[in-house]
Amino acid sequence: RLCSCLLLMFYMSFPSMVHVWAEGSSLPHSSHRSLKKTFGPSSRDSLCNHMLKHLHSGARITVQMPPDVEGHWVSTSCEVRPGPEFLTRSYRFYPNNTFQAHQFYYEDNHCTKPTYTLVISGRLRLRQASWIVRGGTEAEYQLHQVQTVPHTAAKAKELSERLGRSCRGAARGPWEPGVMYELWNEEGGFDCSKELNFTMHELQLLRVEKQYLHHNLDHLVEELFLGDIHTEPSQRLYYKPSSYQIPLQNAKNHDHGCIVCRIIYRSDELHPPILPPRADLTVGLYGQWVSQRCEVRPEVLFLTRHFVFHDSNHTWEGHYYHYSDPTCKHPTFTIYAQGRYSRGLASTRVMGGTDFVFKVNHMRVTPMDLATTSLLNVFNGDECGVQGSWQVGVEQDVTVTNGCVALGIRLPHTEYELFRMEQDAHGRYLLYNGQRPSDGASPDRPEKRASSYQMPLVQCSSSSQRSDRSRGDDDAEQTQQRHNGGSGQHAGRSGCVTVLLVTALMRLCQS
Ligand SMILES: *[C@@H]1O[C@H](CO)[C@@H](O)[C@H](O)[C@H]1NC(C)=O
Ligand SMILES: *[C@@H]1O[C@H](CO)[C@@H](O)[C@H](O)[C@H]1NC(C)=O
Ligand SMILES: *[C@@H]1O[C@H](CO)[C@@H](O)[C@H](O)[C@H]1NC(C)=O
Repeated sequence: RLCSCLLLMFYMSFPSMVHVWAEGSSLPHSSHRSLKKTFGPSSRDSLCNHMLKHLHSGARITVQMPPDVEGHWVSTSCEVRPGPEFLTRSYRFYPNNTFQAHQFYYEDNHCTKPTYTLVISGRLRLRQASWIVRGGTEAEYQLHQVQTVPHTAAKAKELSERLGRSCRGAARGPWEPGVMYELWNEEGGFDCSKELNFTMHELQLLRVEKQYLHHNLDHLVEELFLGDIHTEPSQRLYYKPSSYQIPLQNAKNHDHGCIVCRIIYRSDELHPPILPPRADLTVGLYGQWVSQRCEVRPEVLFLTRHFVFHDSNHTWEGHYYHYSDPTCKHPTFTIYAQGRYSRGLASTRVMGGTDFVFKVNHMRVTPMDLATTSLLNVFNGDECGVQGSWQVGVEQDVTVTNGCVALGIRLPHTEYELFRMEQDAHGRYLLYNGQRPSDGASPDRPEKRASSYQMPLVQCSSSSQRSDRSRGDDDAEQTQQRHNGGSGQHAGRSGCVTVLLVTALMRLCQS
């Protein structure tokens, strides 16, 4: 009885679907105001908090449910998929529910040397609001045709050899650059796209966000989020998306600073986009970095992150604010983690990436809602803080219990990381770290190191020092939590804490 009650509470803490469909329409601003009082413009790290506050209020972004995907959508940068693969995307969705998608692949991490292009056409049907990723919409697609154009002699040779061996329908003889070849079509009865592990499963999960940049009603930016790509290439064909890739922007309503958008918009399969060459930035881990949006991790997890790197002594602090909803308004728990890091060499696998090793030595947890608090309290023994003592909004150090089993975090914990840095269209520094393994594991061995990246963090302060030293970090932290009505964060940076919570609870209930 207690268990079903707890489970019920856990699920009830998720806003209803009705709520999700209305998401973004009218948002309370009370947390907004109270934060302003705490962090005036005078405090040095106010920008970081200001940026997180904007996310917390969610006021700038509206979400269209069901999404209207009609139009032409393009990448805003050179994207990295697990493997790694470097690509740009240009997708058109027509009023008759058909689509034509261009995927341009490259040899280099700045997308300056195109190797081949895939041209994919088919039909898309929106289904229902997703229960896997709240705030997303599920869709079904049907392919009509998949074609490819190699852009270099080497790629033409490689493709024709690879497909010639494994795919009966493939065009015979040596392939040539600049010529279109068919990989699959509805009537053809052969499928050469399988050999490339090609799928369009990213169309199974969609979300459209609109926001007015710089509070300017004339400057609308529309973003299309499509489903994520499994980090293990061999799993791609079978994976149903449970989070998103970096969004595409509507070519008509894009950020005016986005030169890349315009280059891609004007391209086609015979004239693939060639992005402006740039130098790799050296990854400098210093200062403070925050999420730019409410992020989604595979398997029902919404969060924002705030990192502080002290390059003088190679220590770092991470704040992981967890939420139950896609606009990051309903906090579930917060994790503060602290540890050391060491810089490795330039990645041999991912061009433009740099290897790092991160250790987590200290951790504090704050449950922010009743469901998480109850869950932490039902765990027996010394597995997560002091048994039965958890209270909503009250932080506990879980270092002495070697982490928190209920949250799936063991200390000390080591992760093999991949980083890269970039400047965005507005000159701000962006920090990318490795995509979490799609199977929920943690990259705790060098061979599990990521080959693609998460949504980037943006630099909010070049100093790692807190604004008010006399107040101390703990106070600052608590003040912040009190005033924004709570926020959650998580450390072992394991990807599926919420699922673990549910699973743990179910296991408990069965026993
Ligand atoms: C759908 O619309 C596109 C663009 O107008 C057109 O090229 C295509 O032939 C149409 N497809 C069908 C099945 O009507
Ligand atoms: C496709 O997946 C298979 C495993 O299912 C793997 O062996 C192969 O290397 C992959 N091909 C590409 C081009 O990634
Ligand atoms: C590292 O340096 C930062 C600031 O310079 C300081 O706050 C922190 O306590 C130091 N950590 C360790 C473990 O020495």
